[in-house]
Amino acid sequence: MFTRILGIWDGHDSGAALVEDGRVIFASNEERYTKRKLEVSFPYNSIIAALYHSGLKAKDIEHIAFSTTEFTKTLERVFPHMKESYYAFRRRKVRKPHFEDFRHNLKYTLTSVGVLPMCTYLSKSIISKQLKRMGFERFRLYTVDHHTAHAASAAFTSGFGKALVITLDGLGDGLSGSISILDNGKLERKLSIPARDSLGIIYEQTTNALGMRELEDEGKIMAMADYSFPFDFEDNKLKGLIKVRGTSLIASCNPRKQYSLIKDVAWQTPREQVAYMAQQLLENAVVKLTSNAIDRFSIGNVAFAGGVFSNVKANMKLRSLEAMKRWYVFPHMGDGGLAVGAALYVNNMIDGTDSFDFSAYLGDSYSAEETKHALKADRSLELHDDVIEQQAKHAAELLDEGNYVFWFQDRMEYGPRALGHRSILAPSSDEEAKEKLNLYVKRREWFQPFASSILEDDLARLVEYDGKGLDPYMTNAYRVREDVSTQMVSVVNIDKTTRPQVVHSDRSPYSMLLKGVKRHTGYGVVLNTSFNLHGFPIVRDPEDAVRTMRETRTKYMFINGVTVRNRRAT
Ligand SMILES: [Fe+2]
Repeated sequence: MFTRILGIWDGHDSGAALVEDGRVIFASNEERYTKRKLEVSFPYNSIIAALYHSGLKAKDIEHIAFSTTEFTKTLERVFPHMKESYYAFRRRKVRKPHFEDFRHNLKYTLTSVGVLPMCTYLSKSIISKQLKRMGFERFRLYTVDHHTAHAASAAFTSGFGKALVITLDGLGDGLSGSISILDNGKLERKLSIPARDSLGIIYEQTTNALGMRELEDEGKIMAMADYSFPFDFEDNKLKGLIKVRGTSLIASCNPRKQYSLIKDVAWQTPREQVAYMAQQLLENAVVKLTSNAIDRFSIGNVAFAGGVFSNVKANMKLRSLEAMKRWYVFPHMGDGGLAVGAALYVNNMIDGTDSFDFSAYLGDSYSAEETKHALKADRSLELHDDVIEQQAKHAAELLDEGNYVFWFQDRMEYGPRALGHRSILAPSSDEEAKEKLNLYVKRREWFQPFASSILEDDLARLVEYDGKGLDPYMTNAYRVREDVSTQMVSVVNIDKTTRPQVVHSDRSPYSMLLKGVKRHTGYGVVLNTSFNLHGFPIVRDPEDAVRTMRETRTKYMFINGVTVRNRRAT
C-alpha cells in the first residue's frame, strides 16, 4: 500500500496537489478555475480537479496536509471577508482608501505575530470542516509550518542527496526565511530568519511605494531596475535597511518605519533608480547570505524556495558563486507552491521518501473530443486535424513569417511560467512581431522583457552558459552572447540578458516545434510568454483558449492536434 497525500493551501495563490507513491501526480492553483489572478479563496476547484484527474474519490484520501497557521491567516479563516477585502485592496480593485497607510501598517504589525497554539487549533478545525463538507471522511489532517513547506518543495524535488536548503520570502508563520540541511533523507532546520528581518518585505514595500501592486508586480521592479544608470552600493539610499551578519539578516527598523523611509526616498528619486536600489540591496544580501551559508555548512549544492527566488536576476548572481556546485530553484517558489511543499513534507515524515518525481506539467488536460467541442462552438474558427509533427512544422513556418501563434498542448503547467503547454510564441529575432503581440494581447508595460525557450543543444551557442545544470523552469537569467544578438532581439533585456526555459531535445511537441524553428533560422529559440488575456491567469481549458483567441482576434492556434485559423483575425 503506498502513501497518498493531498496538499492544500488556502492563502495567496491558493491551490492543491496530490502526491502518490513518490510522485507528484497533480498540482494546480485556484486562479485557473476562478479566473482571478493569484486567487485567495479555499481551493475547492483545485481539490476537485486533483481527484478527478487521478480517478479518486474524497474517501480514498487518508492524509491531508496544509500550511501556515499564523495569527492573520487564522483570522482570515474565521472571517473570510477580511481576505476578500485585502485581496481587492492589494490588487487595487477599489478606490484608494483614506486610511491606506493605516491599513498597510496594520498588515505588517499583525502578520509579524507568529504561530499561537490557539491559532493552530482554530485553523485545523475550520479546514477540517471545509474538507468534510466536500466529502472527505476519514483523514488525518497535518499542519506544516510555512517555511518548512517552502523548504520541502525545494529539497525533495531537487534531486540532490545532500543539500543546503534556503527559503526567503515576505513572511509566513512569523518568519521570513530559513536555512536547512537535507541529508540522509531528512530535512533539518538549522536557522530561522524572523519576519521583522525580511528581505521580501523591503522589496514588496518598494513595489507599493512605486505605485505598483504588492505580491504581484515585484517582477516589474526587477525589470525597471535595468533602466537606471548603475551606481555603487555606497550610494544606495536603501542600503541601511538590512544587513547580512554571517547567516543572519538584520533589519535596521520595523516594516512600518521601513515603509516610511522607502516612500521618502521614492519621493525624491526617479523611480527606476529606486527600483535599482531595491534590486541591488536584494542581490547583495541574498548572495552574501548564501555564500556565508555555503561556507558555514560546507555544502555546495543549494536548493531554494520562497517568493524572493522568483527574482531571476538575483538567481543569476547566486549561480555565479564559485562555491556553488549545483543550484536548484523550486519552479513554483512563491506561496502558490505551498500545497506541494506541505504534501511532500508529510510524505517524507510518514515513509521517509526524500526524492519525488516532479515535472512542470501537473495540471488539467483535455481529450481531442473535449477540445473540438469547445472549438466548434465558435463558428468563425476553421479547424484542421493535424498530427503533432505537422503542427510543429506549420507553427515554425508561421513564426518564420513573423506571426505570433497560440500553442496549447497536453497538461497545464504548474507555477507562474508558461512552459510550452499554454504558451504564446513569437519569433525571437523579430521586434515587430513582439510589438504586435504586446499591442493586441499582452499589453505589458514597455520596460517588461519577454522570456525565451531554447533547445538545450543551442543554449551554449546563444547564452553564456555556466554549466551548473540546465534549468527547464525559467528560473534564471543568462547573458546573451554578442555574436547572436540579432537572433535574440525580442527576448533580450536591456541589460543583455534573457530568461530562458531550456527545452530538452526529445519527441515532445514543444521540442519538435523548436527543432522546426531551428530548421528555418539555425537556432532552436522562440519568444515564449504566457497564454492569457491581459489581467487574467494563464488559460486552463480549450474554452479559455477560444475566448482568448476571439477577444484578441488572433489568427493561429495549435491545440491538442487541431490547427485553428480565426476568420475574424485582424
Ligand atoms: Fe511564503
